[in-house]
Amino acid sequence: MRIAVVGSGYVGLVAGACFAELGHDVLLVDNDEHKLAALKLGECPIHEKFLPELLERHRGKRLDFTGDLADAVRHSQLIFIAVGTPPKDDGDADLSYVESVAQGIAGAIDDYKVVVEKSTVPVYTNSWVRKIMLLNGAPAELFDVASNPEFLREGTAVADFLYPDRIVVGADTDRCAQLLAQAYGPLTDGSYYKNPDAIPGPVTGPFQAHLIRTSAKSAELIKHASNAFLAMKISFINAVASVCEAVGADVEQVREGIGTDSRIGRRFLSPGVGYGGSCFPKDLLAFRSVARENGCHFGLLDETARVNEEQRNRFIRKVRKALWTLKGKKLAVLGLAFKNGTDDLRESPAVGIIKSLLKEGCAITAYDPAAMGRAAEEFGPNSAVRFAHGPYEALQGADACLVLTEWEDFAALDLARIKQLLRYPIVVDGRNLFKPAAMEEAGLHYYSIGRPDVVGAHSATVTSALKEAASKNEAISRNEAA
Ligand code: UDX
Repeated sequence: MRIAVVGSGYVGLVAGACFAELGHDVLLVDNDEHKLAALKLGECPIHEKFLPELLERHRGKRLDFTGDLADAVRHSQLIFIAVGTPPKDDGDADLSYVESVAQGIAGAIDDYKVVVEKSTVPVYTNSWVRKIMLLNGAPAELFDVASNPEFLREGTAVADFLYPDRIVVGADTDRCAQLLAQAYGPLTDGSYYKNPDAIPGPVTGPFQAHLIRTSAKSAELIKHASNAFLAMKISFINAVASVCEAVGADVEQVREGIGTDSRIGRRFLSPGVGYGGSCFPKDLLAFRSVARENGCHFGLLDETARVNEEQRNRFIRKVRKALWTLKGKKLAVLGLAFKNGTDDLRESPAVGIIKSLLKEGCAITAYDPAAMGRAAEEFGPNSAVRFAHGPYEALQGADACLVLTEWEDFAALDLARIKQLLRYPIVVDGRNLFKPAAMEEAGLHYYSIGRPDVVGAHSATVTSALKEAASKNEAISRNEAA
């Protein structure tokens, strides 16, 4: 099939490369000249497993890049809109990019086309895209608008696309539903997985993707409701973790106990510093707006966001509890990205926590396996954040180690070396990466989420050393001020 994907961000680039992988002829459209030039030269602008391989495999063959939307529309049977829908101040999604793409498509229609929303959009966007296209002269019989939401997770987006739990096709006419089903044919009939060059996925053996046909409005709601539900699961376990801390229980044991109930499930029940990223925070606010505008009170969404926000404050309080005062403390931060497997910093809890610690007067040395380039831009050259070349370098001489992203590499660090490099043997783990018993054995003071603190036999000595250091810092500050 001939397919255009408008927008070469995370969703558009992955979808375009994967449609080419399924055998389609794909044109990726973007209005950013620099991005287009880089893509044409063979660069991969995001850190995403298997994406460089797919771009390399199909670039210049079944995958091309263009700035000419009208040309791409004329070339294609299916046009996927995958442009940004950033939040406005009130939480509503800003749909102006979607609207301008719809206008552009309307002016170029010369034959029957299916216009597909792939960006996360509120319910009714489908009807609006249709209205805008009609107002801009697109003949009603020459197009349909469908919703085909994306459930890609950053870091595993390619495998998520090719081995989906489900493909949702929200289409109000059979003609457009059939064309969309045809685009995913190699996944739903299982032929893609028989290809020896197929990208490996989480399943071995025969696989057939499941396609769910719904109305366009239901598909729009499915996307918002899925993300809101997952965010709610995370906030739920984080709230349970707080209760565990208050009563001296262990949230990892509680998680095992509730997650093994097949009605609840284990996934998305990892406690931590809260969810971040480009989707959950934004989609939760947008879904709340949709509910409100339509007269529905959905307080559960407010509470989900509140618990998430509070999780960062709770972490800062833990650091304070471990270190007594924060001013002048030198902290090693392991992890900057909003989760492992990505270089994305958008809404990253780590960034928010570092900014709060900087305000408290801490100096930070950070390390992240993928996100340091973006972090250097985020914090700028004049901030008190330094970047280390590796985790051990970050730990050297720090007053404590803070773990903020769940990179697996961190869990494999040598505990004896951590203890030897740190000035005080203190680890505050916002992702429960380490086992408390192992930390205790290594002689580390260990604070994690929803589990009892490990303070070791020498805690009194450490606390008095901290008090002494804090008084010294204060004396130095007083002298400097004088
Ligand atoms: C999410 C959805 O999973 C995906 O379906 C949708 O298309 C886009 O939004 P993504 O933002 O890439 O994907 O990340 P995800 O893996 O869902 O994690 C989101 C955040 O929740 C991260 O900050 C992660 O660290 C956190 N998280 C996740 C937890 O704190 N605990 C968990 O158990 C799972």
